[in-house]
Amino acid sequence: MPDPAPPNPPRHIAVIMDGNGRWAQARGLPRLEGHRAGAESVRRIVELCSEFKIPHLTLYAFSTENWNRPRAEVEALMLLLERFLKERAKDLHKHKIRLHAIGQLERLPAGPAGELRRVMEATRLHAAGTLTLALSYGSRDEITAAVRRIAEEAVRGELRPEEITEDTVATHLQTAGLPEPDLLIRTSGEMRLSNFMLWQLSYAELYVTPCLWPDFGREEFMLALEEYGRRKRRFGGV
Ligand code: FPP
Repeated sequence: MPDPAPPNPPRHIAVIMDGNGRWAQARGLPRLEGHRAGAESVRRIVELCSEFKIPHLTLYAFSTENWNRPRAEVEALMLLLERFLKERAKDLHKHKIRLHAIGQLERLPAGPAGELRRVMEATRLHAAGTLTLALSYGSRDEITAAVRRIAEEAVRGELRPEEITEDTVATHLQTAGLPEPDLLIRTSGEMRLSNFMLWQLSYAELYVTPCLWPDFGREEFMLALEEYGRRKRRFGGV
């Protein structure tokens, strides 16, 4: 029996996928095995969002800080990303999901970068939803780049400073066109945003679970949706 969808599901879920390393360590496995299992959780959550008609999903797959990890781990993660894109593109086609990416994509190695471009191009007309991968992503970096572009437009005389609104900033971010996340899920218990979507998460409901990302499946997903359904969203009002 499929689970009934909870009332008022979020339209956009963002996820900080944390705990792959600890999951592997607890089993006496190399960290890479944790990332492999984490990629399987990515496949699962894409399916779950499609099943529950949640159109937008954004996953923090690699932060700007993650470049500082040991070279072998970075290379393994990049290879995993490339393989994931190759193998899972068919799921995106099946569910009519468009692939989008945010972050300093120019820093990605040629293999995953090429695969990313290919899948984004191949899925660009799908309209049932979007899967956004945050890759080499840092929110402060994204906001800084947006401010720089706004300043350049002002210098060129295309925009007057007094015309700059919140909407101007939002439309210069890499998430322009996407609705803001309604729900942020963070796995493995850490209570922080880690430079993820600081602007866009202003009014999101936060859900932190001790569950490690590779263990995040249907049951945990349902718990998150149920908790979200119980929240009273006031957006600063009463
Ligand atoms: C955090 O776990 C996870 C990451 C840094 C990378 C997330 C990557 C994946 C889920 C797999 C590949 C992604 C895709 C899109 C195929 P951690 O290593 O920081 O865990 P720890 O805090 O327990 O060490």
